[in-house]
Amino acid sequence: MIQIKSAKEIEMMRRACAITAAARALAGKLIAPGVSTSEIDKAVHDYIVMQGAVPSFLNYNGYPKSICISINDEVIHGIPGSRVVEEGDIVSVDVGAFIGGFHGDCAATFIAGEADESVKRLVEVTRQCFFEGLRFARPGYRVSDISHAIQIYAESFGYSVVRDYVGHGVGAKLHEDPQVPNFGKPGHGPRLIPGMTLAIEPMINMGEPNIRLLSDGWTVVTADGKPSAHYENTVLITNGEPEILTVVDGKC
Ligand code: MF3
Ligand code: CO
Repeated sequence: MIQIKSAKEIEMMRRACAITAAARALAGKLIAPGVSTSEIDKAVHDYIVMQGAVPSFLNYNGYPKSICISINDEVIHGIPGSRVVEEGDIVSVDVGAFIGGFHGDCAATFIAGEADESVKRLVEVTRQCFFEGLRFARPGYRVSDISHAIQIYAESFGYSVVRDYVGHGVGAKLHEDPQVPNFGKPGHGPRLIPGMTLAIEPMINMGEPNIRLLSDGWTVVTADGKPSAHYENTVLITNGEPEILTVVDGKC
């Protein structure tokens, strides 16, 4: 069942999402060659808690840390630890914060120092995939219109879309209906209605779409070892333009 949020619930979502977006921005500022992923996790954890919120991912299905950090060929759900970020790495950070009964969820891929042009382009295109999908995040369209727009844009650059993990509704629960795939034919799935809150999150591979799960039970990597990027915002469907809720100072 898709949860349609009331005006009051949307206010709560805005608060959770603002903290989530600020936490993502903080992580982005910390990413540089030499920093360890556990340092980033700790700083973001402390920030979220300082705001009176709870990191959404901590203990979620047994997940052991507060954020996910996925580097280079890691697609999503990388567990922070002793790994140190190196020059030219692409570092995907996924953050969630829960406060007032609601979650915010967002992610972005950051570049540590100077990276290859090909990798920079992957990161830029992945971000733009989100905005291509966003054009269809409004009444009159259906969920798969978002999906299709993302897929077409990614594939026009020769990239591929991860199929095993998808975007989702988000609200009182971190993962709600509907699923929001990053691929598919247009004109399918639920019709978009004001008050829906969706986490739209393209996961785009430079090479093949296939992924595999590492033995830690969490980290998802590309099967071909090529880089992958991720970008996500929590979005409110309105009567008109969609509203990106995971913004801080108007930025995401
Ligand atoms: N942002 C991720 C998502 O939408 C959540 C990470 S899953 C966790 O799916 F288990 F690490 F929390
Ligand atoms: Co998500």
